[in-house]
Amino acid sequence: MGITDTACALLPVDEVVGAVDGFLAASPAARAWDVETAFEWGRADAGLLTEGQRSAVQFITLIEDHLPGYFDVYHRYFPVDDTVDPSTFVHNRELYHFTVRWALEEDTHARALARYQEAAGMAERGALRTELAVEGQRPFDLPYDHPVQFFAYALVQEKATQMYYQHLRDVSGDPVLGAVLSHLARDEARHFSFMADVVGRYLRTHGDAVVDPIRDVVAHFRMPLADTMRGYWRWALKIADVADYDHTEAYEHLVKVIDRAVDTRTDRVDELVRFIDQCRKVA
Ligand SMILES: [Fe+2]
Ligand SMILES: [Fe+2]
Repeated sequence: MGITDTACALLPVDEVVGAVDGFLAASPAARAWDVETAFEWGRADAGLLTEGQRSAVQFITLIEDHLPGYFDVYHRYFPVDDTVDPSTFVHNRELYHFTVRWALEEDTHARALARYQEAAGMAERGALRTELAVEGQRPFDLPYDHPVQFFAYALVQEKATQMYYQHLRDVSGDPVLGAVLSHLARDEARHFSFMADVVGRYLRTHGDAVVDPIRDVVAHFRMPLADTMRGYWRWALKIADVADYDHTEAYEHLVKVIDRAVDTRTDRVDELVRFIDQCRKVA
């Protein structure tokens, strides 16, 4: 079932507009960056990295490079065409202002990491392109049925990614990689803020009705590509000497979003928060 069947479960359009305006106001063109001019590529040197750090760069390049798959999820679940009723279209069209900007930024992340690999002597461009295509062609889906779930999922994933990039930057032996990761982490932090804003608006406008859908996201959470990438778990273990790629670290931020959104916790919200806390590895 698509979420087109649940138009009443969507956020009122003014709420979407508020979140999108906030995101775009926090993302002025003057503060944007590009792969071509933001870094001193001539100084990039993978010889300054440990084996684990190089492996981590390969891993995150694959994850970021899957953008077409992630972007497509929005088109499928928030269509901007004649398959939806006019009011759903208006909602989806407003959301689209976020989605295209977000996608441009994520695509830039993929290019920056691939460029780093090439400039630092980790990979030859043609070989890397061929290698990325193997995972790139695999399907990606978030088979959710309530719209809030896409934002709750992305909230956790963007925050986990931001934290991982910060950990990796802090230990990176190559300052050029450090600079790349700083830029990426800052973008992920803004993406997280948008998702947090949207999830907060869902909680304020729909209350207890979104509690079970959010709980469902936490209960079945997997980082992107965890179920499809060859050797994902072996790889995640291998790069753990750098920093754990652990989404449960992001759960405390989800709890904060819930607490900010609701003045007084209902029993169901209270139960949700207890459940999320239990899912955190580090108590
Ligand atoms: Fe990214
Ligand atoms: Fe992001």
